[in-house]
Amino acid sequence: MLAHPVTADPVFEFAADVRAGLTQPDQKELPSKYLYDSVGSALFEAISVLPEYGLTRADERLLRRHSDDIVERLPVPLVVAELGSGSGKKTRWILEALSRRQATSYCPIEISPAALAMCRRELGDIDSISIVGFEREYLDGLLEVAAQRQDGEHLLVLFLGSTIGNFDRPADVRFLQEVRRILRAGDALLLGTDLVKSIPQLLDAYDDPLGITAAFNLNLLARINRELDADFDLRQFQHVARFNHSSGSMEMHLRSKRKQMVVIPQAELSVTFREGETIWTESSHKYSPGELTQIGEQAGFRREAQWIDQEWPFAENLLIAD
Ligand code: TRP
Repeated sequence: MLAHPVTADPVFEFAADVRAGLTQPDQKELPSKYLYDSVGSALFEAISVLPEYGLTRADERLLRRHSDDIVERLPVPLVVAELGSGSGKKTRWILEALSRRQATSYCPIEISPAALAMCRRELGDIDSISIVGFEREYLDGLLEVAAQRQDGEHLLVLFLGSTIGNFDRPADVRFLQEVRRILRAGDALLLGTDLVKSIPQLLDAYDDPLGITAAFNLNLLARINRELDADFDLRQFQHVARFNHSSGSMEMHLRSKRKQMVVIPQAELSVTFREGETIWTESSHKYSPGELTQIGEQAGFRREAQWIDQEWPFAENLLIAD
């Protein structure tokens, strides 16, 4: 079931965001949340099974191996809210461990209706777990979940897949501070974070030889064509992944292969591109294990525990609101 319908006009918002991003005076940009329409969500599912992209499997491995240990450290009774559930596949381990303890509500918060539907199909069979989906932005959804909880019920917020790394520094800390403000002391945040690893390994993960990641990134332009009637020629753009040493992040761009003009009628915009000019679509910060304690503390949490995957350096961090 869906708690509430979306009220704002999504096409209008998309047009406004595209307009704002592509009229930036220096670096053009597009918000990464728009990568995940139904085509983008399906492509991301394919990325997550690519041998070069170990991130999702490391996240899932940690949750599978340590779910009992994680759940043991959580307060009772508990409502679970997940920021960006995706397909919900890796959440199963936590929910199953929780369901052995008590009946629990699980509230996935997703802007993608396709992902919410997938998540309901994937997790609908777990005994003692009731799913209430929220088609919302992260913080709006979390506010609603928090407002609906009963007295004495604690919240566990799941923020997996290293999505936190997609915020700019120091927007990651600010975001966690916002989350903290919605929580009460003793509530928990399980934060998945991709860790520093070798640059060739990262370049392969974000620019795989099959070209799925390139298709995933280019789909953002295809989506603008579909939804805003634009005339991007996808063959004249190229996916670029590079490591930014000063920020410690992978950066994804779409590079214009030549000088060109693109018309986006629904955004009342025509944009020119120089040869080699890029649109920045996402950054993915790679953390050091110690950095998480620090960031957690700055946001008002103490780090209760951390589990690290050795095969693909990735950490699951259990933070408790002070
Ligand atoms: N949030 C994911 C990550 O940082 C998403 C992602 C994987 C991604 N590959 C990408 C985003 C390529 C843009 C382009 O790992």
